[in-house]
Amino acid sequence: MNNRKLGNSTYLISSIGLGCWQFSRNHGLVGSFWGEMDESTITAVIQESLQGGVNWFDTAEVYGNGMSEQMLSASLQHLNEKKEDVVIATKWNPVLRFANSIEKTFCDREKNLSPYPVTLLQVHSPASLSSVESQMQHMAGLVRNGRIECIGVSNFSLPRMRKTHEVLQANRLALTSNQMRFNLLDRSIEFNGVLDYARQNKITIIAYSPLAQGLLTGRFHEQSGLIRKRSGFRKYLPAFQARSLGRISPLITVLREIAEEHKLTSAQIALRWVIQFHGETVVAIQGASTAKQAQLNAAVMDFELTAKELEVLDNTSRMVSRIP
Ligand SMILES: NC(=O)c1ccc[n+]([C@@H]2O[C@H](COP(=O)([O-])OP(=O)(O)OC[C@H]3O[C@@H](n4cnc5c(N)ncnc54)[C@H](OP(=O)(O)O)[C@@H]3O)[C@@H](O)[C@H]2O)c1
Repeated sequence: MNNRKLGNSTYLISSIGLGCWQFSRNHGLVGSFWGEMDESTITAVIQESLQGGVNWFDTAEVYGNGMSEQMLSASLQHLNEKKEDVVIATKWNPVLRFANSIEKTFCDREKNLSPYPVTLLQVHSPASLSSVESQMQHMAGLVRNGRIECIGVSNFSLPRMRKTHEVLQANRLALTSNQMRFNLLDRSIEFNGVLDYARQNKITIIAYSPLAQGLLTGRFHEQSGLIRKRSGFRKYLPAFQARSLGRISPLITVLREIAEEHKLTSAQIALRWVIQFHGETVVAIQGASTAKQAQLNAAVMDFELTAKELEVLDNTSRMVSRIP
């Protein structure tokens, strides 16, 4: 099924969403990670995503200090997209901040994304100076005032996620989602209790970096030196250096073989695994940087991996990630 319930809300979201970090246009430290995308490419990425059945978008305050939110709204307006037809998720930046800044800064989220309402507001990380109780009190205030519909978190461990859900339940609300890194090379949520708790409590796991920031596409294995031609900080990450590329090459080979069987790309196989292996609980946000990538990534919703293929990917991923 392509559409999945967003937590225990009434919203139906596509199993593939579009992550919008790459629309930061080099603003701010976090926003400089990907290098610059021009406006027409951003609009084309969004257009291909919508045409392929993607109905929701994930952005954040920290992505270009609001630039990503502005670019997303401008492109959706340019494409005449109706506000009822899309779901927007954004995030409050908690780093070195107290919870009262949730409401203080929310006017900027609304202004940047206008006319599209924020459906899901997430706490970006556990870095706030305030307690979970205090953060949720302010998030709940936004729900009560009708300014957001759903409350989410990101990068929250099991104890913190459980605490958040319990605090919200005491206020007759619920935690909708936890946005976590999840892909064939990082399966921590399967072993630290986050995935099980999410499944039991109808909390959606929003898998970020589902392609391990491009590593699982196989392109950096096939064309040595390609990563050095990429702009932004990614080229300096240890994961993209020769030793690490060599370690994961058995997985890259398996992805290529399965892709050839389906006449698809390795990236599509890696992405499909993320949204299929654990069923309804997991949806993925991918960061397409071209219209073609956006089209291919949305098409992942149109095919299925066989049980045998899922098993081979599971086993090879465990081997290269050193998972028992
Ligand atoms: N909550 C958090 O802490 C957090 C952290 C990270 C990300 N996120 C969210 O997750 C979203 C996605 O994660 P991400 O951007 O880190 O990683 P990702 O989606 O795993 O990787 C994105 C990169 O993969 C390559 N790619 C994408 N589709 C492709 C395709 N079909 N074929 C070949 N290459 C393809 C592109 O590389 P090239 O540009 O080199 O072509 C693209 O820049 C972000 O936009 C953001 O919304 C959240």
